[in-house]
Amino acid sequence: MIINNAEYRSVWWEHGRLRLIDQNKLPFEFAIAEFTDCRTVSDAIRDMTVRGAPAIGAAGAFGMALAAQNAPDDKFRSHLRNAHDNLISARPTAVDLVNGVNHVYEQTLKFIPDLQHARKVAILVAQEFANRSAEDCRQIGLAGNEIVPDKARILTHCNAGALATVDWGTALGVIRTAHRKGKEIFVYVSETRPRFQGARLTAFELEQEGIPHAIIPDDAAGYYFWKKEIDLVITGADRVCLNGDIANKIGTYEKAVLAREHKIPFYVAAPLSTFDFTCHRGADIPIEFRSEDELKRWGDVPIANPGSPVLNPSFDITPAACITGIITRKGVFHPREAAQKIQD
Ligand code: MRU
Repeated sequence: MIINNAEYRSVWWEHGRLRLIDQNKLPFEFAIAEFTDCRTVSDAIRDMTVRGAPAIGAAGAFGMALAAQNAPDDKFRSHLRNAHDNLISARPTAVDLVNGVNHVYEQTLKFIPDLQHARKVAILVAQEFANRSAEDCRQIGLAGNEIVPDKARILTHCNAGALATVDWGTALGVIRTAHRKGKEIFVYVSETRPRFQGARLTAFELEQEGIPHAIIPDDAAGYYFWKKEIDLVITGADRVCLNGDIANKIGTYEKAVLAREHKIPFYVAAPLSTFDFTCHRGADIPIEFRSEDELKRWGDVPIANPGSPVLNPSFDITPAACITGIITRKGVFHPREAAQKIQD
């Protein structure tokens, strides 16, 4: 991705360290965070310094690589196991995290007892996981471009951009490709309360890329559907099930229902790492609940009735029946076929 005229990935390995763009500071400050141990990586996933399903998958993979570098010889296996469990528990909904962490963990264990070799393998495998993820997203952009008509007015929710992935983005990868191919598109960016990934991050990425857009309040989507000013919806996903149900940022489901009501196509873009081939349906996906402070405070300022309890689900489930197609690197598929087709 291009930020201030320089090329970046959101997550990368450099000089024996994990580096990533600090997403909590954007768009007001552009800062790179550095990590040399696995525990601080899981903290960064938990506090959303890095966020977005494929991005936390890659961060988790590199977190395992750091764990392998730091593991003492006599406790190599148990150190890796603890790191694995700690990383995976950082956020429960995006299966990419499980996939990234498991991949590096399993490949590294294969090289015990040659620990020097195992440590090198851990880095190589994590890098390969991140590269594959970035390439997956590039291909999603090309495949998804086919479903974007010229002059389309597109609604997206949350941030499924280059920041949320290793590079390119999923939903924004499609939008970016359509724009680069010369299509005149306009993007409605729902703000995405309570953490404003749309208003802060998607809007930032679109501005950097020169793509016409506007931030709208989350609850204004219905108004724009009613005005017939939305031609299609494209979102990302945190998990795609075998039956085509998906989990994505809270508020996705209501946009899908609105799209269905207005007979507007609703697409979900997802790389291989977001598919869960063990999960049969949306009801089986663990939904993360985040802290009440996200709703009750604005920095240090209280903004809600102090005595009231809060329910803060971070994701919801959109059933396959509401989804027109899932955009993958291999093409755009009916949601019920996508898990099969991506493995063919
Ligand atoms: O809580 P977040 O910001 O990590 O949630 C991210 C999303 O819901 C994205 O839409 C999803 O991870 C897809 S990113 C390509």
